[in-house]
Amino acid sequence: MNQATFLATLLDEACEPFRRSGKFAYYYARGKLSSDCIFRELLRQGIFPARGHYLDLGCGQGSLFSWLLAARKLYEQGQWPSDWPAAPEPLTLRGVELMATDVNRALGRFGPEHPVVDIRQGDMCEVDFGKADVITILDALHYFDHARQEEVLRRIYAALPPGGLFLTRIGDAGAGLPYHIANWVDHVVTFMRGHRLPQLYCRPLSEWVALLSRLGFTVRTLPMSEGKPFANVMLICRVPS
Ligand SMILES: C[S@@+](CC[C@H](N)C(=O)[O-])C[C@H]1O[C@@H](n2cnc3c(N)ncnc32)[C@H](O)[C@@H]1O
Repeated sequence: MNQATFLATLLDEACEPFRRSGKFAYYYARGKLSSDCIFRELLRQGIFPARGHYLDLGCGQGSLFSWLLAARKLYEQGQWPSDWPAAPEPLTLRGVELMATDVNRALGRFGPEHPVVDIRQGDMCEVDFGKADVITILDALHYFDHARQEEVLRRIYAALPPGGLFLTRIGDAGAGLPYHIANWVDHVVTFMRGHRLPQLYCRPLSEWVALLSRLGFTVRTLPMSEGKPFANVMLICRVPS
């Protein structure tokens, strides 16, 4: 199977179950998972550990979890690119999302047949994180102010074991026009998803890296806007072993 055919199969597998949550959930998942390179790159580059407990903060309708479950299923069926690392095996998938509409779409998608998935409504600035091997925040850190960002990052560090992974994506506020285009799109998409226009609290990439390093993480950065005129950067942050 060539990569394009495989990605189409993976997309179908990840998106079909969202039909249970309605047309919006289904088409939103298709649009997001097919056009955003981060989902493919997380698997292709083998960023996640072989097995682990996950916590996704600001998880929306659970698109990342759907992608991971679909990937693991195809891997176990032997439908997997020979030059990609094994699909990660998620042991538990916990999600926290502020908006009830998104949580309801997630609950419709996952249902009781997925006991490893637990998505709840909550504010990541307030909920207890418990313990996890992998914590993700995709495009959600900039919705609250700098002091609360730092506190959330501090608590993430404390919730991870030595060697644990915090993976996030931010918009580089030092990048000029691509950063402003991404913010404009962010406003439009947020509004389309039924939320009011947010105030955004961004930082230049160098400031994110300095903050995360000061908190104890080792940080690797990768540009993550392929095909879009944005300034998005993935931050792969590890608690030293
Ligand atoms: C741009 S969306 C990204 C959703 C998801 N991470 C994804 O990649 O599909 C940002 C999400 O973060 C959520 N969010 C923002 N602030 C939050 C907070 N304080 N606690 C929990 N979720 C939050 C928003 O409601 C929204 O669903």
